[in-house]
Amino acid sequence: EPASYVGDEGELPVTVAHRGYSSVAPENTLAAVASGMRTGAEYVEIDVHTTADGVPVVLHDQTVDRTTDGTGDVAVLPGADVTALDAGAWFSPAFAGQRLPTFAQVLDLLETGSSTLLLEIKGPETSAEVERVVDMVVEAGLEDRVVLQSFDVDALRAAREHAPQIPRGLLRGALDADPVAVARDLGAVMYNPSASALLERPDVVAELNAAGIAVMPYTVNSAADWARLTEIGVDGVITDRAGAFIGWKEGR
Ligand code: G3P
Ligand code: CA
Repeated sequence: EPASYVGDEGELPVTVAHRGYSSVAPENTLAAVASGMRTGAEYVEIDVHTTADGVPVVLHDQTVDRTTDGTGDVAVLPGADVTALDAGAWFSPAFAGQRLPTFAQVLDLLETGSSTLLLEIKGPETSAEVERVVDMVVEAGLEDRVVLQSFDVDALRAAREHAPQIPRGLLRGALDADPVAVARDLGAVMYNPSASALLERPDVVAELNAAGIAVMPYTVNSAADWARLTEIGVDGVITDRAGAFIGWKEGR
């Protein structure tokens, strides 16, 4: 019987710190992940890409341009160059010197706290690249502290094939006609849609939960939307404002 990620009836949604606590620290850096953990987010979300020489690194975009002092496509750059980049100065001078982290560094950091890692395989990644990421989770013994998620169903299938014990979630920009069937077909424990799509069909939360599938919509930064999503019974909320969301829940 696989672990369920569905919250109890009437329980408030868990906090998922999106790209780390990315409203107070530069997204997808060790500072942002540490800040999300310290603030008490049950989950911290990051994005992973693979460099030209096969090093999994933590970055949202396909290029390093927006969030570092370098330029270029991460998939054609060597790991040593990518991890030397400054990924903090663009956000604030206070974070200058934050390097673009390896996935291995995030796993090490995860071991110092209790948050679960919502690990997005950004893609496109080859099966071998997905397997490398999955192997690192297994080698660290962190299978029960990681949920792997992706918009890319091929990546989810590759992960399932290689290490079925690591739970997986499907990301969707638009809802499927039958979300339960799609999630079941992938053996997914989570179905994480865009919040705006979900709010148009709120009944799917109960349908998914009844099938044992958790729902954690993205990316939700206003109290008005936190209230709407709590009302329809989501299990978690992916937010840039982890601290504000925790405070909002405490005030209810
Ligand atoms: O966790 C879901 C969310 O991160 C998906 O969108 O573009 O922020 O990776 P994006
Ligand atoms: Ca993401």
